[in-house]
Amino acid sequence: MPSSSSAPAKRPSLRRRSAEKKGAPAKGAAKATFVVVANRLPVDRVELPDGSTDWRTSPGGLVTALEPVMRRNGGAWIGWHGAPDEALEPFDNDGLSLVPVPISATELEEYYEGFSNATLWPLYHDVVAYPEFHREWWDAYVRVNQRFADRAAEVAAQDAVVWVQDYQLQLVPQMLRELRPDVRIGFFLHIPFPPNELFQQLPWRRQILEGLLGADLVGFQMPGAAQNFIRLVRQRVGHKTHRDTVYLPDGRRVLARAYPISIDTSGLEELARRPETEARAMEIRESLGNPDKVLLGIDRLDYTKGLRQRLRAFGELVTDGTIDFEQAVFVQVATPSRERVDQYRVLRDDIDRLVGRINGDVGRIGHPPITYLHSSYPRDEMAALYRAADVMVVTPLRDGMNLVAKEYVACRYDDTGALVLSEFAGAAAELKQAYQVNPYDINGMKDRLYEAMTGSTRDRARRMRAMRKQVTEHDIDRWATTFLDELARTDPTHDKKPRPV
Ligand code: G6P
Repeated sequence: MPSSSSAPAKRPSLRRRSAEKKGAPAKGAAKATFVVVANRLPVDRVELPDGSTDWRTSPGGLVTALEPVMRRNGGAWIGWHGAPDEALEPFDNDGLSLVPVPISATELEEYYEGFSNATLWPLYHDVVAYPEFHREWWDAYVRVNQRFADRAAEVAAQDAVVWVQDYQLQLVPQMLRELRPDVRIGFFLHIPFPPNELFQQLPWRRQILEGLLGADLVGFQMPGAAQNFIRLVRQRVGHKTHRDTVYLPDGRRVLARAYPISIDTSGLEELARRPETEARAMEIRESLGNPDKVLLGIDRLDYTKGLRQRLRAFGELVTDGTIDFEQAVFVQVATPSRERVDQYRVLRDDIDRLVGRINGDVGRIGHPPITYLHSSYPRDEMAALYRAADVMVVTPLRDGMNLVAKEYVACRYDDTGALVLSEFAGAAAELKQAYQVNPYDINGMKDRLYEAMTGSTRDRARRMRAMRKQVTEHDIDRWATTFLDELARTDPTHDKKPRPV
């Protein structure tokens, strides 16, 4: 795991300027043979006591997995650092070469909050919220994708491997191939990929498919998503396909396969086993009044996560007297996310109201049935929360994978605890021994929650053991290695001469 207390970063020069102009060339960055392109850089800016700023590697799974590969290959990570209208020079942080891409305030609205998170996000998640289609959002998406592709073309060495991540950057593979036909391009989609019935709503459906076809290997979380893609390419773009392969008219082949992402299982287990984590877990239980059962939800505050449904199910179990809330409490951590997007604002108000109503209706002094925390926590506090929880409740309406479910399992090294998991999370295909639920079925969810709370210790241990085997054998390292090995085996049949950039 990258340590956040590592050597201080070489501070990048901070220049404010309009990001509407084409990004400055990555002067400071050496050419890299392995390049990751993601919407976000894997660092968070932190304020130091003297008022200056510094960078800390964010504890995300992706950077953990890719860090060794990046170090071995003199790798570079291209991404946005999270603030608009600010251009930074490339910089090194903890030995990683980071190449910031600027985004203007208007692009933040149109490319990030707009097309990425109010068009693609709901469309790709079963349309659980209405996607909005605006032509100016699309124009910004094209413009910003081109900027990322330009930057990747500048940074990548001859014959480099470039790995593009997620729905914000689906046009980058094709744009990059145009500029640099010599590089090998992988793409991985972290969220679901919808079937034709939904995808066809998108006015720019063909451009997105062609964008992805710039890659040599397109990775998805689930086999069904890869099949949706192949079918769409055949129907909408008219290319020949056979099983997981697309045959392009220029002789190039594109593979589309599933690579279910995972977590840094051993790193997290090691954290969970620390005595201070266990002590903190005890403290958490104590401050909740030492109930028999602690139920826990940890999610980004997102309408795909099924928060309303799960809180309603728990609320009804309390109000109808099935469970005594002095014996069982629910802790819901909701990490603030995309707060300027309308649907997220509405959700926040809904959850505030719902929690207030349940606590107001049935709570007593000092005993709210639901403890609701609208906040994000560092990794060690998360591990303590996982250790404190008897039942982990993960009930998305649709989710590409859901790493919280896997993290909980990784922390239950003593085979205790129970996982209630939605059938609509990608993780359900691997964590088969979870108490699986349909989050749209409130009665069914109440039954499963009750079962998870009251099941025999033996049955719970049997389930947890099997799930722990799964996440131990299939960790983030294996995920990255499998993808990159397959990418290395793809057989680019295209012209190897780079165009000058
Ligand atoms: C999901 C997406 C990621 C994204 C993350 C956080 O996991 O797949 O690409 O980075 O959510 O969302 P944010 O909009 O804050 O980057």
